[in-house]
Amino acid sequence: MKKLLVCLLAVSVLVLGACGGGKPKADPNDLTRGMDRKIVMGYSQIGAESEWRTACTNSVKAAAEEWNIELIFSDAQQKQENQLQAIRSFIQQKVDIIAFTPVVETGWEAILKECLDAKIPTICVDRSIQGSDRQAANPGDMNDPDNWFTAFIGSDMEQEGNRAAQWMINNVPNLLPGKSVYNIAELQGTVGSSAQTGRFKGFRDTLGIPSADATGTSSDGKYKIILSQTGNFTRAEGNQVMEAFMKSDGASIDVLFAHNDDMAIGAIGAIQEAGRVPGKDIVIIGIDAVKGAFEAMIAGTMNASIECNPLLGPQVMDTAVKLLTGQTVPKWVVSQESDYDQANAAEAYPSRQY
Ligand code: AHR
Repeated sequence: MKKLLVCLLAVSVLVLGACGGGKPKADPNDLTRGMDRKIVMGYSQIGAESEWRTACTNSVKAAAEEWNIELIFSDAQQKQENQLQAIRSFIQQKVDIIAFTPVVETGWEAILKECLDAKIPTICVDRSIQGSDRQAANPGDMNDPDNWFTAFIGSDMEQEGNRAAQWMINNVPNLLPGKSVYNIAELQGTVGSSAQTGRFKGFRDTLGIPSADATGTSSDGKYKIILSQTGNFTRAEGNQVMEAFMKSDGASIDVLFAHNDDMAIGAIGAIQEAGRVPGKDIVIIGIDAVKGAFEAMIAGTMNASIECNPLLGPQVMDTAVKLLTGQTVPKWVVSQESDYDQANAAEAYPSRQY
């Protein structure tokens, strides 16, 4: 059906163009191609650091097949320079459209302007770039980063940090009664990525802690971030950093907030090694809602996971087809997500897709 739809769209755009109803090809802002053949998409993925990322990659690859889009996929292995190189090569290959996940927020202006000069539309997937609020910007204002890319598809990372803090405020006093202050250890994601900056800020905002401070106490005095370090979104580093936290402050940690489930799962082992009980002595909150987190919640070693949807492939392909056939797309296609904890994990687990 989708393939048929793509063909019909292409034909209708061509017919409109031939009748003078399409946009004039001379318009420099016109990035449409009026596709009459298979769309070619260059896709720069950041790597395979987590269960979430693998699910995202699989979703993109499967959707490209389903939409009959030729995908030139490049894995940057967490290096921005590899992404820049890949995107430059996509431009040289004259792909129809470029999709990419910016590993960090900064350093994209020049390459995105090269894409614009080449009249290739760009879709930011999952992570965003600095200075962008992912809303349509004043056309022509090239100082506004929102004008450097065409569309954004992904989550509100700041809101995920808010949701994690809110879950903690709603649940931790019941799980660990009788305490006047709760000490929090935080495992941050890749420093400088929008997933790290957003979750870091959102968590603090909800607690009333200045968003530039790594450590600090909530405005009501009940929650204190005592430790905060990056674990780069991986299980191995989550485990290592938590091991160090347990050595320095193990006895006083009440809550672990991990910017993703993989680091939370890595940390569970370090907590057990140190002789404390994960999910009971230390309340563990992650982000992503991957299957591994559901298994840990069902086993009782993890308490909550804030969903961040990695199944973005269909939206990416749908947006690409729309852009290339002259249809309007929203600047930001926001993901719909839920929160999970030990109360609803077992029921939700069988229907989880990642
Ligand atoms: O950018 C999304 C984040 O990147 C996910 O939360 C994390 O697991 C991934 O590696």
